[in-house]
Amino acid sequence: MAVIGIMSAMHEELAAVLAAMPDEQRVRVAERDFWVGHWHGHDVVAVLSRIGKVAAATTATVLLERFKVDALVFTGAAGGLAPHAQVGDVVVATGLVQHDMDASPLFPQYEVPLYGRARFDTDPALSQALAAAASQVLSDPAQHLGAQAIADFHLLSPRVHQGLIVSGDRFVSTTAESQALQHSLPDALAVEMEGAAVAQVCLDYGVPFAAVRTISDRADDDAHTDFNRFIREVASRYSLAILSQWLMHR
Ligand code: ADE
Repeated sequence: MAVIGIMSAMHEELAAVLAAMPDEQRVRVAERDFWVGHWHGHDVVAVLSRIGKVAAATTATVLLERFKVDALVFTGAAGGLAPHAQVGDVVVATGLVQHDMDASPLFPQYEVPLYGRARFDTDPALSQALAAAASQVLSDPAQHLGAQAIADFHLLSPRVHQGLIVSGDRFVSTTAESQALQHSLPDALAVEMEGAAVAQVCLDYGVPFAAVRTISDRADDDAHTDFNRFIREVASRYSLAILSQWLMHR
């Protein structure tokens, strides 16, 4: 049976996934806890990604080499860049770019040297299945979130977007940087700190990859406001519900 790797960016998300797995066993590799077990009858290995491109790439490499996962799904939060990527929406990546990669003039800006590309595509079938699961979950937020969170974060009609996510080793928390990213990468829907690195590792191993991110902030001067509460009360609940819905129907 196919082994599915789940990388969660946040402790709360991983804790929710582990609570849903009946039989997980901890295996410690490279200072990380990998949780091997089952979820909705699938073989699953769940792990905290850790933060930033290098840490997440190491976690992904161990999942691929040691645990032989056949597909890798990343869940977490992201900052919204495109005007329509609003707090509480979910973005399913079709491709990812490292926005802080720049080996110019030797290579074009964003291109990863020796890969001949800047953009790392996700697996279309996997991404489509996750987008369908996300649409199902977001069609009724009240089933997954508390009434106070829905009111405080204005989550009455959240939407699912599919498109480009950009990754870099910076938490984007100024309007100036957000605008600069939108200017130089106009297709980018959202920004985070790991996805494009994990996509690169998955390309190296020929393993299907998908990324699902809940928009937690607008990557602007207010980006820190209520971040932890949003992760706890919204993003980690969406992640759990989306993964559960996806695995149940896979
Ligand atoms: N993850 C969530 N919000 C983010 C932001 N504004 N920048 C980078 N990563 C993020």
